Amino acid sequence: MLQDLERILFDEATIHRRLDELATRISEDYRDRELTVVAILNGSVILMADLLRRIPLPLKLDCLSVASYHGGAKSVGDLVFRQVSLPDVAGRHILILDDILDSGVTLATIREKLESAGPSSVRICVLLEKKRTRTRAVEPDYVGFEIADEFVVGYGLDYMERYRNLPCIGVLRKELVAQSA
Ligand code: IMP
Ligand code: MG
Repeated sequence: MLQDLERILFDEATIHRRLDELATRISEDYRDRELTVVAILNGSVILMADLLRRIPLPLKLDCLSVASYHGGAKSVGDLVFRQVSLPDVAGRHILILDDILDSGVTLATIREKLESAGPSSVRICVLLEKKRTRTRAVEPDYVGFEIADEFVVGYGLDYMERYRNLPCIGVLRKELVAQSA
């Protein structure tokens, strides 16, 4: 899989160091409030496991499964919720966890949906934030790394469901994206 990368952006040690910093901030911010994490599957699964183990607070964990890419490298905009029922968020302090903020459609839609269920607060944590003009405005509260507008894989991020298990994050070679997108 490594040979499919044009270059590595963040190796495993760099990601873990940044997670230490994010976990410290989140733990301080939620010290006096009971935290409910809503992780967006499948992309945030590695982040969820590594980040949550660094947060020494009592917390609840729920997952939401959505799809917007339908396998390719371009979002088509409409979001499909694969869950039958939404997590119970009424009166809770929610932290949405996702792998990457790209067009903003996914997180804006999920945020709206959760906010309509009466939570006490909603914040957003993403590992990566792409620098680009967004289709929907989203201001994440916790960001691991800002990246340029390039297609990246690894550490949970996929291309056609591959590369999620790469321990680092890298830019996928353009000819591989072009072949099937
Ligand atoms: P958005 O709705 O366009 O913000 O897209 C969010 C979702 O698209 C993420 O949760 C990812 O699953 C996927 N995505 C966006 N950019 C990338 C990327 O560079 N690599 C892999 N997946 C991406
Ligand atoms: Mg994806």
